[in-house]
Amino acid sequence: MKATEQPSLVRFNTFGVDARAGLMLTLENEEDLLSLAPFDPKRDLLLGGGSNLLLAGDIPGTVVHNQISGKEVVDSDRDHVLVEAGAGENWHELVLWSLSRGYSGLENLSLIPGLAGAAPIQNIGAYGVELSSVLESVTAWDLQRSTWVSFSCEQCQLAYRDSLFKTGQPDRYLITSIRLRLDRCFNPVLGYSGLSEELARAGIGQPNAIEVSDAVIRLRRLKLPDPSVTGNAGSFFKNPVLRQEEALSLLALNPDMPAWPNTDETVKISAAWMIEHCGFKGFRQGDAGVSAQHALVIVNHGSASGREIMELATKIQSTVHSTFGIELQPEPRIVRFPA
Ligand code: FAD
Ligand code: EPU
Repeated sequence: MKATEQPSLVRFNTFGVDARAGLMLTLENEEDLLSLAPFDPKRDLLLGGGSNLLLAGDIPGTVVHNQISGKEVVDSDRDHVLVEAGAGENWHELVLWSLSRGYSGLENLSLIPGLAGAAPIQNIGAYGVELSSVLESVTAWDLQRSTWVSFSCEQCQLAYRDSLFKTGQPDRYLITSIRLRLDRCFNPVLGYSGLSEELARAGIGQPNAIEVSDAVIRLRRLKLPDPSVTGNAGSFFKNPVLRQEEALSLLALNPDMPAWPNTDETVKISAAWMIEHCGFKGFRQGDAGVSAQHALVIVNHGSASGREIMELATKIQSTVHSTFGIELQPEPRIVRFPA
């Protein structure tokens, strides 16, 4: 286990916010957990790739940075393979690794930043697929009881941008590996708006999994700012999910607002559309701004602090609320410890 005193976290969060921690411990293997000091959620932070959090201040205690690596096929049958990945594996490299071996199921989740261990935290999703469709199980270290625990996919309580680990018992479980059930035979999911059009543009009628992955990558590069160029954490707010009656009255007043019915009689509506309609797309307040490429992405144009980014987020929330009566919820974790 590597220990770094008083590290700057600027390279460890995709917003590029310059916060500090008391100590950073880098976990390289599972044995490292046995020598971990007690984890205090009021001072300490579990960190993966830092692509879904906003550091709104310094971390008074320890940042536990998960770098446990390894990926392998642990079981297989005629139709499926079971892949196990260490929590520290880069998610997108895991997607490309599985596709290169002829296993499909992750292609729509290409190019999502971050590490494999964080994928279950908010049940990552994109282009019509969520992790829940492939996750078999999660292995974690219970930081309260200092013991190993395993969760089936159902026990993870995965939902839209949510899980047991995000809102149920946050910071209790340090995920060390995940298992994914992937297909040997490709079942394309092409219903997400723009995906089949992108394949058609490339002259592809019946795509294979790698061609779908390539199309998703092209679309994502077009739509989303690259965090290595301009700091961001992807969508800053979740798309609100409304009861059907509530959605129908909002849509009667705003017929152009994109809306996606769910199977449980709720309707997801577009946060990006509302933010753009409030005039924020491309807006800038100091070094904090809203991407001119995508209204749902808050960006750091240079040296914005976490607090300045939060001020802009709060302004957006209150304008959207007064315009549409909708309360936007942040998607990334806002990391703010008492001073
Ligand atoms: P971090 O940001 O390091 O951590 C996120 C949370 O998980 C924190 O609460 C942290 O404490 C906890 N955590 C991290 N690792 C562990 C662990 N091993 N055990 C327990 N807790 C842990 N997300 C999507 O769902 N879909 C998208 O399409 C998408 N697009 C994005 C595009 C961009 C440009 C960016 C910057 C982000 C995007 N995201 C998207 C968000 C983000 O990439 C995902 O949520 C990703 O899974 C976060 O992984 P991470 O390793 O960076 O987690
Ligand atoms: N839109 C606007 N203005 C914009 C951008 C989009 O009005 O500036 C409208 C368009 O009508 C568009 C619709 O919003 O058709 C949806 O846009 P997009 O396809 O980009 O999807 P999104 O709802 O904004 C969600 C996820 C993304 C994920 C994409 C693709 C959430 C909060 N965000 O974004 O996830 O990549 O779909 O599946 O659910 C993330 O979680 O960080 C993330 C990037």
